[in-house]
Amino acid sequence: MLFKQQALLRQKLFVLGSLAIGSLLYLVARVGSLDRLQPICPIDGRFRPHGQDEIPLRTLQFKRGLLHEFRKGNATKEQIRLHNLVQQLPKAIIIGVRKGGTRALLEMLNLHPAVVKASQEIHFFDNDENYAKGIEWYRKKMPFSYPHQITIEKSPAYFITEEVPERIYKMNSSIKLLIIVREPTTRAISDYTQVLEGKERKNKTYYKFEKLAIDPNTCEVNTKYKAVRTSIYTKHLERWLKYFPIEQFHIVDGDRLITEPLPELQLVEKFLNLPPRISQYNLYFNATRGFYCLRFNIVFNKCLAGSKGRIHPEVDSSVITKLRKFFHPFNQKFYQITGRTFNWP
Ligand code: A3P
Repeated sequence: MLFKQQALLRQKLFVLGSLAIGSLLYLVARVGSLDRLQPICPIDGRFRPHGQDEIPLRTLQFKRGLLHEFRKGNATKEQIRLHNLVQQLPKAIIIGVRKGGTRALLEMLNLHPAVVKASQEIHFFDNDENYAKGIEWYRKKMPFSYPHQITIEKSPAYFITEEVPERIYKMNSSIKLLIIVREPTTRAISDYTQVLEGKERKNKTYYKFEKLAIDPNTCEVNTKYKAVRTSIYTKHLERWLKYFPIEQFHIVDGDRLITEPLPELQLVEKFLNLPPRISQYNLYFNATRGFYCLRFNIVFNKCLAGSKGRIHPEVDSSVITKLRKFFHPFNQKFYQITGRTFNWP
């Protein structure tokens, strides 16, 4: 009898213990997400309607849950009206540079509760067919957000496409423009690697980087090769400066975003007049990926897709030296114009 009672007591204690542990785990998870649900401090007037000092607590829930459904087009008109959700034109655009780390920058900025990203590259300003569809078509491509949030899109082709600066200017002459750059030779090799991988996927052969980057007739750098041309940052920036003052640009160090993302993101928060909300908690180094990944809360983490962070093919050192020498004067001019100096060779 006594033995039976003891067994019953043990069973009860076990159930109570499990409940207590379960509740504790739930609380820890909630605190993790509550930390991200706190109302943010005031944002610059440009980004928030009058009298609205806080982002509602439900903002982040929308960022993770319902908003995702809305983006997929699963929202009813009633739901959108009820939550005052809108599709806003971007207040900031990551215009390039291709392979500079544009995806990482967009995803990391999206950690900020006041930022909503357009997940896809829209290619509105660089694609004549899309551009002809008009600004309402572009706006409809944007994610749903609260009016006081800012929408950011990225299309790296904008930086190098002739018509884009004028077109963006016509949409919003005071828009904020983000350019993420990497050491130009590394960026060119990364660009080549992406194309090479595409060819390999289709079982096609492709030239070696050396053959494309160096003109075989002159033995000089081949400026007709797109991967080289894209890395002449100053040439492209000069075209943009015909429309926008330099103050409207912010240059992000793409090499530093790889090794030390937080300080780079904090500079962007400042440029966008956002309160600093991205913290070290949101970024953790994943040794398997060899890159920083994103932590939204205790349960939800994500790393960038495997297509980001490819292994580059070996390139002849004399070609690298030649390219670095070639880019050097353009880099100096870029530092001078932007006021941001890099340790590029
Ligand atoms: P590599 O593939 O050459 O390493 P983009 O998004 O503009 O195409 O840029 C891709 C580059 O982003 C990658 O180039 C990678 O180095 C860089 N990158 C920066 N931060 C990253 C991160 N946290 N995870 C993966 N790639 C990142």
